[in-house]
Amino acid sequence: MAPKKIIIAIDGPAGAGKSTTAKRVADILDYLFLDTGAMYRAVTLAAYRRNLSIEDAEAMALLAGESVIDLRMQDGEQRVFLNHLDVTKEIRTPEVTQRIAPVAANAQVRKVLVRKQQQMGKDGGIVAEGRDIGTVVFPHAELKIFMLASLEARADRRVKDLMQVGIQADIEQVMEDIRRRDESDAGRKHGALLQAPDAILIDTSLLTLEEQVQRIVALAYERGA
Ligand code: DC
Repeated sequence: MAPKKIIIAIDGPAGAGKSTTAKRVADILDYLFLDTGAMYRAVTLAAYRRNLSIEDAEAMALLAGESVIDLRMQDGEQRVFLNHLDVTKEIRTPEVTQRIAPVAANAQVRKVLVRKQQQMGKDGGIVAEGRDIGTVVFPHAELKIFMLASLEARADRRVKDLMQVGIQADIEQVMEDIRRRDESDAGRKHGALLQAPDAILIDTSLLTLEEQVQRIVALAYERGA
């Protein structure tokens, strides 16, 4: 039987290793990689640059609707474009990360971004990662993964990720940021971080990247990919 182009949904808290894992899985299966957090980050950056109040729900929803957000793979790396300009590095800065909670909690912004995400996955063959992928964006995904890791392991990875894009971060500060984001991710009314009942839990604290990747790829093959 010819392989199916399935949807793989990966959810979990900040720093659990979702992005790197999802990117590798997408690579192996020759699927699209969708980093939905990058979209929330891009909208937050757009507001910051325009000096728009992120608390203004209506204005933020309009901004999300009119922002052109492109996620492209270039030389094996994901690049993020906001209104055709490369903002890959800017969306990872603390200025953006610290302002993101009200944007992610905005139901109207979520509606706009979720629709864009569903559009990108309409033909299957996609590995999407975020917080609400298996619950809201692709509730019918053939494979749902919920990735977890200890706070220490997550902070350590985040510091290394930031270093790769040339940002020097303090581990204590990163842990505090993650703790705060866990709270707002779990506590918001719309699109809260939630394990779908049919999601498979993977604790990555003690797994290598390759082990995580192989586990998910094997599950994808089981589901017909
Ligand atoms: O995965 P990340 O750290 O780049 O995500 C940035 C923020 O975006 C995070 O604080 C929560 C939010 N987010 C969300 O609300 N829903 C998603 N599907 C993905 C991210």
